[in-house]
Amino acid sequence: MTTTPVSPSPISPSLIATLPGHYYTDPEIFRQEQESLFESMWFCAVRSADLARPGAFRTVQVGRESVLITRSRTGELRAFLNICRHRGARLCTEESGEVRRNLQCPYHAWTYDLDGKLVAAPNLIKMPDVDRVEYGLVKVALREWLGYAWVCLADEPPSFEETVTGAAVERLGDAAAIQHYGAERLALGKRITYDVKANWKLIVENFMECYHCATIHPELVDVLPEFAEGYAAQYYVGHGAEFGEDIQGFTVDGSEGFGRLPDIADDQDRRYYAITVKPTVFINLVPDHVILHRMFPLAEDRTVVECDWLYAPEVVESGADVSKSVELFHRVNEQDFEACERTQPAMASRAYRNGGVLVPTEHHIGIFHEWLIQQLGGPSA
Ligand code: FES
Ligand code: FE
Repeated sequence: MTTTPVSPSPISPSLIATLPGHYYTDPEIFRQEQESLFESMWFCAVRSADLARPGAFRTVQVGRESVLITRSRTGELRAFLNICRHRGARLCTEESGEVRRNLQCPYHAWTYDLDGKLVAAPNLIKMPDVDRVEYGLVKVALREWLGYAWVCLADEPPSFEETVTGAAVERLGDAAAIQHYGAERLALGKRITYDVKANWKLIVENFMECYHCATIHPELVDVLPEFAEGYAAQYYVGHGAEFGEDIQGFTVDGSEGFGRLPDIADDQDRRYYAITVKPTVFINLVPDHVILHRMFPLAEDRTVVECDWLYAPEVVESGADVSKSVELFHRVNEQDFEACERTQPAMASRAYRNGGVLVPTEHHIGIFHEWLIQQLGGPSA
């Protein structure tokens, strides 16, 4: 009796292979990604308006570091490593909150102002040579764009224009096009946080292709009929996917949404645009709202995704019912994340030792893989 070895056949040369399975399961590759991507690139951390008042703070995990973002007395956002300079205790242990004046370490009570300067420490008066700025909190670079605070842990951050805003220009063809949505002036209508048991790259790859739309997104395909043909959403994003003829708004049942945002151009109306800002952000643009996903990769098999639905301030202030537009993309999110979670365990299977296959409409996933391997300094065996 002969036995057939359980081993996948090599990928046909006419097809492009995906990354091998261990890229999605190996803690060492995840560590390299933390270092070379999340701790080196601009990382979208928090919606600026969430920290409306001086003293408001939020902590977020960026790669292996906890980053503390606060609003200062003078109204600017600041970011620091969330580490006390004395003996290294985590300064803020809560995910968010508000302090009256200063940030005080819960261990020995070293106290920092909202600009990170050391302002008080028990017995420090006996150590006059301690420099209060030098022993202040370690600053992290911060930029604001689209109403979000983006932080970068690199000593020399890469160009924000090339690596962040450039993605929008690349997809929309013109730097002004995304400004028409005025995302920084919009108000939060709904936020849903998803705890996804999947590697962050599976979520990116899924967002980059629409080959799956016809299978798993019935509501989205009803609104955007061209997605039924399996074209990659981003393949044609320069044009934006057009709403179906009988569709009135980007809602779960195609019913009317809200008024078009004031600066939307005629050629942006009745269209859906999707932008990936590598490594962890997806921006979805429709005429009456913006949906922004921020990913927080926490482990090789776990990613928290915060999804914000943003509307004109008067829509949110009026208490209008946003549930029909929220429901559409909430279903899309659930459908996508369920698919990613179904894929994750298989990454450890011998069936995926050599990876899977990309069909032609998924070719930009291959470009994402090339980019990733380059960022990691070469392929991993
Ligand atoms: Fe923070 Fe000692 S570790 S005051
Ligand atoms: Fe999808």
